[in-house]
Order: sequence, then structure tokens, then C-alpha cells
Amino acid sequence: MSPNPLANFNMEKLNIFRNPFKMFFPKKMVGIDVGTGSIKVVELSRWGQGKTLENYGEIKSSALYKEPFRNVEKGSNLLSNYFVSRAVRAILDEARIKTKAAIFSIPDFSTFCTSFELPPMSQKELPEAVYYSAPQYIPLPATETTLDWRVVSGEPGDKKTPIKILLVAIPNQVVQDYQKVAQMAGLDLYAVEAEALGLSRVLIKDEKSYICVVDIGVQSTTINVTHGQNLKKSYSLDFAGGQLTYAVSSVLGVGRVEADEIKNREGLMSQQKNIRDTLYLLIDPLLVEIKKILYDFYLQENKEVDAIYLTGGTSSMPGLKEYFEESLRKKVEVPNCFSELLYPPILGRTLEKMAPSFSVATGVALGGLET
Ligand SMILES: Nc1ncnc2c1ncn2[C@@H]1O[C@H](COP(=O)(O)OP(=O)(O)OP(=O)(O)O)[C@@H](O)[C@H]1O
Ligand SMILES: [Mg+2]
Repeated sequence: MSPNPLANFNMEKLNIFRNPFKMFFPKKMVGIDVGTGSIKVVELSRWGQGKTLENYGEIKSSALYKEPFRNVEKGSNLLSNYFVSRAVRAILDEARIKTKAAIFSIPDFSTFCTSFELPPMSQKELPEAVYYSAPQYIPLPATETTLDWRVVSGEPGDKKTPIKILLVAIPNQVVQDYQKVAQMAGLDLYAVEAEALGLSRVLIKDEKSYICVVDIGVQSTTINVTHGQNLKKSYSLDFAGGQLTYAVSSVLGVGRVEADEIKNREGLMSQQKNIRDTLYLLIDPLLVEIKKILYDFYLQENKEVDAIYLTGGTSSMPGLKEYFEESLRKKVEVPNCFSELLYPPILGRTLEKMAPSFSVATGVALGGLET
């Protein structure tokens, strides 16, 4: 487990990269999540305070290539910019999305976040001090990273209080990869943003509650503890739905596609004991990790988490929500990322089913529509 030191700061407005030439205020925005198993695209528009889901689309990596879109090796970025851009273009064409402004989510393991303190100083002195100090805190040469920073406590100009800075560094290579993908897909890269930030923006409605957001995808699970929009803790684990599929495929002696279907259809409610037992065996260590994270959080902050929000495609597995509830003794919800958007009512049931996979893409797109 790798703790992500994104702790204790209001991350809501933090876009890691913003193209300075694209600072217009867009009425439409495309959010793109290049996941291991599939690429998800949503197009949102904004009218006053209301936001509309204009279009959406998804393409599974198995439908196109033998390899997942994202490389299995952590830390490496996209499998192939060319393949990803082709897949993105195919979704845009299929969903008839004409909007060019796009925000890509970036996996948490591709960003590096830290915080440090500076002595009291004026607003004018601050940027230089941050850039001068940054290299001490990031493991990559400053010339190879794109930096973004925020004052998270202290007041520039106040002669007494030190200033706390949150620094986000993203390797230039990662930004360039997304720029290339966007360009090849005919899009303008408006920003890139860490997945965890998109998730809290779209899923957290209550500013007072402490929520643990668990996103279970194909390759990784991220566990974030939030207080309102403030991201307090963020962890990622190398466990997710892909391993469940693999285990079901081994137990039943069937291929991956069939095993995935059985797992998704029956899950923990399967009539076959060997399927249930196999799934429990893999899910229990995840629950142990979550319990540990919640306990550590309680020790550090003296606060109990009020609820668990499950998201990511695997959160739809039958029986999983109930098993989490029973094991963690907390309220567990699978929130719908589309719930506050306008869309034709006839789509309601379909969107509800797809929602868990689209949380990240919707969250980053919403960020692009904020004032
Ligand atoms: N209805 C469903 N019930 C159960 N599992 C499902 C369902 N739909 C999709 N899944 C599973 O969810 C996983 C895909 O989730 P998701 O789309 O969130 O992953 P990803 O974002 O591509 O991966 P990662 O975030 O790990 O890179 C797959 O393992 C798939 O089998
Ligand atoms: Mg994902």
C-alpha cells in the first residue's frame, strides 16, 4: 500500500495542468478516464447553475486489443498513446461528441504531492520561494516536472505566521503523453487532474460528513478519506476486479470473458459455494486494509468516518455492498455520479447501472465547468 501524501488540504480547485492558452470559460467540457479495463468519456454542458449530461461513451480494452489500455506496470503511463487516442476518437465519433475542450484524469500513482512550510513573507515573494524550495521535496528534477501549488494555511503578508504550501508535481512526460493523446484524438487539452479529486467533487455532497470513498476498478483500488471536499487521506492498493475475474476463471476452468460475466452477474450471491468462497478470500484482505485505514484515521484525527461510498465498476458486484456493510459496520452507499445532472428521464435506469464506472470521468469534467 502506498500512502499518498495528499493529506489535510482543500484540493477542490486543484487542476494540475491548465493550458494557459485555453483559459476561456467553456460551456461544454469532455471528461476522459483512461482506465485499465475501459476508457470512459462524458460530455457535460452548463446553463447557469444547471449541468446537463450531453453524451457519454465507453470502450473496453478487450474489445480492441489484447492488452489493457493502461500498462499493468505501475508507474508506467499509457500503453500506447496511439491506441488510446484511436479509442478515444472512436468513442467521440460514436457518441457524436463535437466539444473539443477535454480534461483527462490521471491515476494517483502518476502524481506526486507534498506539503512544506515557508517563513512569513509577502505575496510577491511567494512564487519564487516556492519554486526555489520545491526541488528539496520532490524526487524528480524540477526541469522534468510541471508544478502546481496552493497556500493551504497562513496569510502571505502577515509577518508572524508561517505559510503552508501544498505542492503537486506531475512528471512532464505524463502531461506530454496526455497532450499527445488529446491532439491525436482531435481534442484540446484543457487540464489534467488526479482521479481522487474528480471523485470527491462528484460524489461528496455533504460538507460536514467524513466519508471513505473506495474506487474498485480492474487493476487498482483507491481509498480516499474526505471531509466535505477536503481530501484528508489517499491510498492505492494493487487489488481490484481483475483479480476476482482471474480467480473465478481458475476455479471454474473457463475463459476470462465468461468468468467476468459470471462474477458480474452472480458475485457474492452465487449459488455455487466455490465461487462465493473464492471471492470472499480475495475481498477479505481489502476489508482488513480499509479497517486499518479507518482506525489510523480515528487515532490521528479523533473522528469516525460516517459512511463508505463504493464506486468503480466492481462496486456493482452483487452482494458486495451488503458484505462491506456487515464487515465494516458502517453505512455503505454506491452513489450515482449522474444524480445531479439533467438527462432524459428514460435513461434513468441505464445511467444508474453505469454510474459507478463513470464517476472519475464525470468528476473531472465537472471541474472544467466550475467558475
Ligand atoms: N455490473 C457489474 N457488476 C460487477 N462488476 C462489474 C460490473 N460492471 C463492470 N464490472 C467490473 O468492474 C471492473 C471495471 O471497473 P472500472 O471501469 O471502474 O475499471 P477501470 O477504471 O477500467 O480500471 P482501473 O481504475 O483499475 O484502471 C471490471 O473488473 C468489470 O468486470
Ligand atoms: Mg478506474
